[in-house]
Amino acid sequence: MKGDRQHDAAAAMRVPMITIDGPTASGKGTVAQRVAQALGWHLLDSGALYRLCALAALRAGVDLDDTAALARLAATLPVRFVADGVELDGHDVTAAIRDEAVGNAASRIAVQPALRAALLGLQRGFRRPPGLVADGRDMGTVVFPDATLKVFLVASTESRAKRRYKQLIEKGFSANLADLLRDLGERDERDAKRAVAPLRPAEGAVMIDSTHLDIDQTVAEVLGAYRDCCSRMRR
Ligand code: DC
Repeated sequence: MKGDRQHDAAAAMRVPMITIDGPTASGKGTVAQRVAQALGWHLLDSGALYRLCALAALRAGVDLDDTAALARLAATLPVRFVADGVELDGHDVTAAIRDEAVGNAASRIAVQPALRAALLGLQRGFRRPPGLVADGRDMGTVVFPDATLKVFLVASTESRAKRRYKQLIEKGFSANLADLLRDLGERDERDAKRAVAPLRPAEGAVMIDSTHLDIDQTVAEVLGAYRDCCSRMRR
């Protein structure tokens, strides 16, 4: 037990990292971005990788149930993260991957083990000094189980649907609150019930409910939890 803890602490000290997992529109993307900024660390938006695979598949006419074709596509994904955006095959797809249809397709293909396996190495390669903040569904449970701090961020379905509605309208997309509520519910169920890497809190995760918190307060909670975690490791 003590040996395990020492090994975990040693791994975490090498390249410190924070994982932030949670359901769609829980605010984890914005929170992760702000936490990474505050600490001067790298950022991995793992959902963007699933969205990129979905977009690439839709554009190439790949059947979303063709596991082998999807895994091949994921293993050779021509992706490049640039300042404030992402490119697929040299084209800016920052806005395109945020489309609800792409998000739904991402949730559909994310149930496939071969696709998830094909994305593992790519995701782990983001763990570089001085540190990494990674957000998604299985960052703390599967991809980075030895993260320094694991956060599970939740918020009520209604508050998440309202946030997503506001985001879409601000970005110039059309949106309908009732449709968003239904889609969020369906996507939550699919993400939580799938056999591989289902959405659930990692062992030892700190739970944060942001239903009544704004972004600044949520970021402060995560940074506070990280400080606590570091002082526990020094003891
Ligand atoms: O966080 P997001 O909405 O951008 O993610 C899009 C989809 O990708 C989501 O429905 C589930 C999937 N996903 C996943 O299965 N595992 C991750 N680590 C991140 C996202």
